[in-house]
Amino acid sequence: MSEKKSKGDGLENAVIGIGKILFLIFRICTFGIKRVNFKNFDMWATVVIVATTLVILIFGSTNYLEAGMKFVFGEILPFYFRLFFYLSEMSQYVTLMTLFIVSSLVIFGFKEFRKYAVYQKAIDRAGLKTATGEKPKVTAILPTGENRSKVVVETFGVGLGKFEAQKDSFTAGFKQTVESISLAHDKGKVEIHLCERDLPTMAHFHELYAHVKEPYSFIIGQSLKGPLIQPIRSLPHLLISGATGGGKSVFFRSTMLSLLKSSPHIQLYLLDLKRGVEVKEFAALPNVKTAKDETEATNILGALVKEMNRRYKILEDSGHKYIDPKRDELDLIVVGIDEAAALFGKKSNALASQHIGELARLARAAGIHLIPSTQKPVKEAISTETLDNLPGRMTFRMISSAASNVAMGGNLAKKLPAIKGRAMWTNGSDHQQVQAPYIDDETMEMELKVIKDEFENKERKNFQELLDVKVSTKMTKIKESGNQ
Ligand SMILES: Nc1ncnc2c1ncn2[C@@H]1O[C@H](COP(=O)(O)OP(=O)(O)OP(=O)(O)O)[C@@H](O)[C@H]1O
Ligand SMILES: [Mg+2]
Repeated sequence: MSEKKSKGDGLENAVIGIGKILFLIFRICTFGIKRVNFKNFDMWATVVIVATTLVILIFGSTNYLEAGMKFVFGEILPFYFRLFFYLSEMSQYVTLMTLFIVSSLVIFGFKEFRKYAVYQKAIDRAGLKTATGEKPKVTAILPTGENRSKVVVETFGVGLGKFEAQKDSFTAGFKQTVESISLAHDKGKVEIHLCERDLPTMAHFHELYAHVKEPYSFIIGQSLKGPLIQPIRSLPHLLISGATGGGKSVFFRSTMLSLLKSSPHIQLYLLDLKRGVEVKEFAALPNVKTAKDETEATNILGALVKEMNRRYKILEDSGHKYIDPKRDELDLIVVGIDEAAALFGKKSNALASQHIGELARLARAAGIHLIPSTQKPVKEAISTETLDNLPGRMTFRMISSAASNVAMGGNLAKKLPAIKGRAMWTNGSDHQQVQAPYIDDETMEMELKVIKDEFENKERKNFQELLDVKVSTKMTKIKESGNQ
């Protein structure tokens, strides 16, 4: 009885075993089908290899092939080929076609099958499971751009927070950088966004500046697609934000330097309420005006509004849509504000806020561009309307999702790695991670000295004098009423 049972078991096991093998072949084939893409080189290579093998099998010498196979692989493959010939005698064409398709799909799908297995292993290693012991399962691996892909994982109830806590373990398992982990549109799934290459932790100003080809442009930084350079006119205003120590001031200064270097006719107005420490080297240039306190800064903004209105009159008379420095013989004007919250965050400075609002709304056509920088891009610091008029956003690491959301319309800035100078560059709806250009103080001073010498040697000349900044009585009135 027991003998009978064990015989039955053996047969059953053999059937199950064959079933499992067939299922595995079927599964690998499904990966092969998923990968079918007529532009794919791998696919054509596989088809050529399989087709060549079949042609050799059909037209070549069986004995020679068998001997060769025996020599190379021993007994298993020749058996396969004998079986193949046996089958082909029975129903040559159907069998051949089936074998051709299955072999192609198996070879073709194997790489993908292995990839899923490796990714699944990385997920399993992170030790995520539900209370009932179910493990998250990889359901799709999809390309999302150059060097980028996303892994879609069925969570079975494991929360997003638990996945996020395993970011480092996934980076090691996938051997790729995990850029972010988010909930998928499909309920019960998360998406792990991967990037094959990583950005450098340092991008030098001069290496990037070599890629500045157009005048009136500045460096955003090194992106995964290469150096990112931005002409200011097509921006037209830029908000720099991020938590303390991320690299705002270094980026602010490097932006001002790129603009000074690339623009033949430019005036800079730099408002730095941290007593002017970040912009003091710029003050020596004849085309730069700096402000160290609130009153000076507000007066400069007032003069800029006046200049903007004057330029609008010029445009009205000429019928042009925007100021072109060369055609209209007017300098491009850039207004940089380091730590904007210190200037606009105070109630007493309603006038400065009003000026900045007007400039953000209208100054683009007048060839006047704003670059405010702030730790807190909140409405108490910069009005929502002004924020809406600053489409370019360079956002360094933020400590909260809420701050990141205000700064760049998403939580990507909170998820940035803690690398100095690492930021999210947003222009409209396009977000890219970048490593901002770094320049040390000594090199900065040398660069500024070269520009100063160019002015002194008359190699450079602006179209206009710097704006005449007078103390505004309106400002004084507001200050007085604020003190009452
Ligand atoms: N692009 C960069 N590459 C490498 N290191 C950088 C970069 N930018 C900044 N750092 C380093 O980080 C330090 C702090 O940078 P920075 O002063 O620009 O920060 P911040 O965002 O302006 O801070 P705070 O809000 O306190 O003013 C710098 O002294 C420098 O050492
Ligand atoms: Mg700073």
